[in-house]
Amino acid sequence: MPTIRIPSSHGAYRVFCSRGALARAESAIEGLGDSTGTFVLSSPNVWRHWGRTLAKRVRGVRANRTFLFDDSESAKNLATVELLCRALSQAGADRRAVIVAVGGGVVGDVAGFTAASYLRGVRLVQVPTTLVAQVDSSVGGKTGVNLPEGKNLVGAFYPPRAVIADFETLATLPHREYRSGLYEIIKYGAIADAELFRFLERHMLPLLRCDPAALAWVIPRCIRIKARVVAQDERESGLREILNFGHTFGHALEAVTGYRRFLHGEAIGWGLYAATLLGLATTRIPESEATRVIRLVASVGPLPRLGAIRAAQLRRILAGDKKARGGRVRWVLPRRIGKVQRGVELPWKLIARTISELAEIDAKARG
Ligand SMILES: NC(=O)c1ccc[n+]([C@@H]2O[C@H](COP(=O)([O-])OP(=O)(O)OC[C@H]3O[C@@H](n4cnc5c(N)ncnc54)[C@H](O)[C@@H]3O)[C@@H](O)[C@H]2O)c1
Ligand SMILES: [Zn+2]
Repeated sequence: MPTIRIPSSHGAYRVFCSRGALARAESAIEGLGDSTGTFVLSSPNVWRHWGRTLAKRVRGVRANRTFLFDDSESAKNLATVELLCRALSQAGADRRAVIVAVGGGVVGDVAGFTAASYLRGVRLVQVPTTLVAQVDSSVGGKTGVNLPEGKNLVGAFYPPRAVIADFETLATLPHREYRSGLYEIIKYGAIADAELFRFLERHMLPLLRCDPAALAWVIPRCIRIKARVVAQDERESGLREILNFGHTFGHALEAVTGYRRFLHGEAIGWGLYAATLLGLATTRIPESEATRVIRLVASVGPLPRLGAIRAAQLRRILAGDKKARGGRVRWVLPRRIGKVQRGVELPWKLIARTISELAEIDAKARG
């Protein structure tokens, strides 16, 4: 079974990623050493699909130590963290408790921040059940919640002690959620791995069908890329910025549409188009390579409509991006497949022109 070791400031941890990895959950949790109890944090939705399997596989999982919370993006807030901390306290969780987060990125971020804060930090095990969570959010130690003022504005770098990514759990994921994770996978190929990119070009159809062999090739490969990047830059002071490829525009698009029109990955799909067009317009990437990126993104299927974007609002949001420095946006742009340049500043005129080009792609996709 592929096991990936990730170094971190809190100590190295292992990611068990395979079909059937849940069978390793009990030994992974026991391997953490002395514990006074396993406390599961999950959502009613995820638990309905996977609760029974997990309870069967992990001896320490008990109903009175399992807390289910709403994992919609609107409940990813401090109120939910408080509820969970109180539930843990009432259930007698002490410093030597282990929190097991079972779910997608929302569960992982909320439960992770709860684990980071409760009693100033208790051990955390991530069991990601979405494609996004398996290739991205469960690895790297970022946890947090939203404020009414913006997404992920309160949080902590708090690496887990183990991650158990079982591809089988993806079988129950709604197809739209699954598909939106494929854009994040394309991102990894585009920023760091030309071979992964070629694999995606050849195997998008089996991947869209959740083919086990294709997933088993792709998911560990993405986790390894993320591991390599965060090992070099755990707290996002430099290299980790490359993971933001497609995200500058994608995040702004999510915000400008009130987080309703696009799933995160879908906004990143548009963001990948935007970054590629900007790379092309600034002659950073040859046209033949840019075309490959555009084709691969398109091969995942139609994205929700871009529609009319209010450019002025988008501009304001871009300038306020968490990663902007002093209002200057730092773009990550492609150089060739597998290589990007970070920290690029661009004139607004160019961005405005790219938005019109995106509108053309949008119109063409609808015939
Ligand atoms: N911490 C990080 O580094 C990081 C990275 C990327 C994204 N994120 C965060 O992750 C969140 C998005 O996460 P996501 O894309 O995993 O979606 P999600 O957590 O919102 O889950 C999507 C939906 O799928 C359901 N679901 C989850 N697993 C399922 C399964 N196996 N079967 C059936 N249904 C299942 C959930 O209940 C939910 O309705 C965002 O809040 C984002 O900010 C964090
Ligand atoms: Zn993302």
